[in-house]
Amino acid sequence: MEQIIRKRLEAVGQAHLLTFIDELTPDAKERLLQQIDGIDLDSIETLIGTYVRGYPTCDVPSDVEPAPYYPYDPTATVRPYDAEQYRTQGEALVAAGKIAAFTVAGGQGSRLGFDGPKGAFPGGPVTGKPLFQLFSEGIAATQRKHDCTIPWYIMTSPLNDEETKRFFDAHDHFGLDRNNVMFFAQGVMPSFDIKTARLLLAAKDSVATNPDGHGGSLRAIFNSGALDDMTARGIEHISYTQVDNPLGRMIDPLFIGLHAGAPDSSAQMSSKMIPKVGPTERMGNFCVVDGKTTVIEYSDLPEELAHQRLPNGRLRFLAGSVAIHIISVEFIRRLNTRQAGPGGFSLPLHRADKKAPYIDLDTGKLVTPDEPNAVKLEAFVFDALPLCDKSIVYETDRTEEFAPIKNGSGVDSVQTAAQIQSNRNGAWLKACGVAIPHRDNGDVDAVIEISPLTALEASDLRNTQLPSKIKRGATIAL
Ligand code: UD1
Repeated sequence: MEQIIRKRLEAVGQAHLLTFIDELTPDAKERLLQQIDGIDLDSIETLIGTYVRGYPTCDVPSDVEPAPYYPYDPTATVRPYDAEQYRTQGEALVAAGKIAAFTVAGGQGSRLGFDGPKGAFPGGPVTGKPLFQLFSEGIAATQRKHDCTIPWYIMTSPLNDEETKRFFDAHDHFGLDRNNVMFFAQGVMPSFDIKTARLLLAAKDSVATNPDGHGGSLRAIFNSGALDDMTARGIEHISYTQVDNPLGRMIDPLFIGLHAGAPDSSAQMSSKMIPKVGPTERMGNFCVVDGKTTVIEYSDLPEELAHQRLPNGRLRFLAGSVAIHIISVEFIRRLNTRQAGPGGFSLPLHRADKKAPYIDLDTGKLVTPDEPNAVKLEAFVFDALPLCDKSIVYETDRTEEFAPIKNGSGVDSVQTAAQIQSNRNGAWLKACGVAIPHRDNGDVDAVIEISPLTALEASDLRNTQLPSKIKRGATIAL
């Protein structure tokens, strides 16, 4: 096997991966050769040419339009719709057991500086409950409310799969039936040396790799057998959320109903948006390109378009992606089988330059770089939207549903997420007549956590014993 692999590597200029092979134990040697055998070497040169030596740019066509969306307020004159009808339709699908929850949790969380799976990060502002526990409670509460089972699929990566499963085991799956919590690992891509464009070694017996992006989920769901498991359970649609958003509603009947029933939806893949706070907020933008709903990343939307305003002063490209989607099982199957057309489906790759520890080929020592030294390539799940026949966008409320924890401090950090959660919970309590203290900037001046088991939405608090007021600076968990 070694000779065959060496020949294949030489043919594509990557034989350096075997530099230390003679030093390895038979087991380590076997592991390395197996890993290399699993890499698609035939496409390596094209990838290097396109993404490593070249720096692909996203060409946004000049006739790009903002995507239309269903407004949060269903009575808004722009596009009124019968919210009750769609909510009922969504609730019926949930109650009939046709909806599963799906969380992408394969990312490395390097920006957060947290050592462990991101879902283990403390997300509850008062209790410090890990993000995975908050989501588990959301699922348990939804099951109770609709008297149904919500299977939960969690996508890990080979880097955190074992640790994630151990975390759930150690916490007894947070009270959920372990038979209804499924894990599968996404795929990986090799990482490239930014200067030489060669593949990097992470150890003498291992090629450096990175998870292949949340877009990899659409293939991993199929390859792992999760899709067949969904079909066997009668699941028709999955509700996609990211592990970094403690407020992301795992199951939203109105959104599910719109996805399944709106006249301009093909019920294949739908998305939630919130209005951006400013032109350069770091969110994907919902647009229409060649008649198809498309997300253009913040880094790719030309500045001139990002700053365009309507006569009423609102941003023309207003709809920012909160990375919440409903995706049909049938659509994922179609993508992964012949029905996608000759050659199957593939999502475009996106380049990011990262710091990746690597083995120096001259010294054999592990180097931890201070500057980005590696190119990583990822696929994005929203790039599947243009593959839908038709795809709708639904507006949600920022404070209700978007409190991302991405950075150690500053924007989108644990501090901002705690404040947003307190603001949302304060608003829910206020709606029930509780007096809430506010700061001059409108923020709630208290730390308030409400478990999904207590309330999934404001109206669930009606039957709960509540205090008449929250004191300024108080810390309270309900
Ligand atoms: C993402 C979106 C952006 C959106 C924003 C909302 C991208 C490129 N951009 O930004 O459009 O407005 O969220 O919060 O996604 N993940 C995996 N496997 C991977 C990579 C990521 O499971 O290989 C998961 C992470 O665990 C996380 C999520 O995907 O749950 C987001 O990934 P991240 O790279 O942090 O996206 P952002 O750049 O923050």
